[in-house]
Amino acid sequence: MKIAIGADHGGYRLKEEIKEFLVNEGYKVSDFGTDSEASVDYPDIAYPLAKAVSKGEFERGILICGTGIGMSLVANKVKGIRAALCSDVYSARHSVLHNNANVLALGGRVLGPGLAKEIVDAWLKEKFSEGERHIRRVNKILDLEKGWKDE
Ligand code: RB5
Repeated sequence: MKIAIGADHGGYRLKEEIKEFLVNEGYKVSDFGTDSEASVDYPDIAYPLAKAVSKGEFERGILICGTGIGMSLVANKVKGIRAALCSDVYSARHSVLHNNANVLALGGRVLGPGLAKEIVDAWLKEKFSEGERHIRRVNKILDLEKGWKDE
């Protein structure tokens, strides 16, 4: 599975830990930056990553900022992206099972690396598979996007 990962300065350290974990698990990982703890603006990382996921260049994306909030807000502006901000394994699993989330947002100043890795691991292993009612609901999200202008 090809994964895109990105972070701002608030998520940089956790990104490096998650990236190493993913590579060790055998995932193909592309890093959208940032590459230090110098201050950057989270939309500049989140938007290109979300576009790449929406175009099908990656199956899933992981975005990390201080809280995960800015990253999730930006990613959800992109057509076809369902970004879920998660701080626990149950929500992460159900963001895929029920919502078909294709981007996971994490808070680098919220989560320790151990829990973050468990969340990422559970999220990547889950599949959108819990039935017709969830397909119907996600299709209603897709309907809402139909009025959006394509770039
Ligand atoms: C940066 O200080 C911080 O605002 C950012 O990482 C993120 O938490 C925004 O949502």
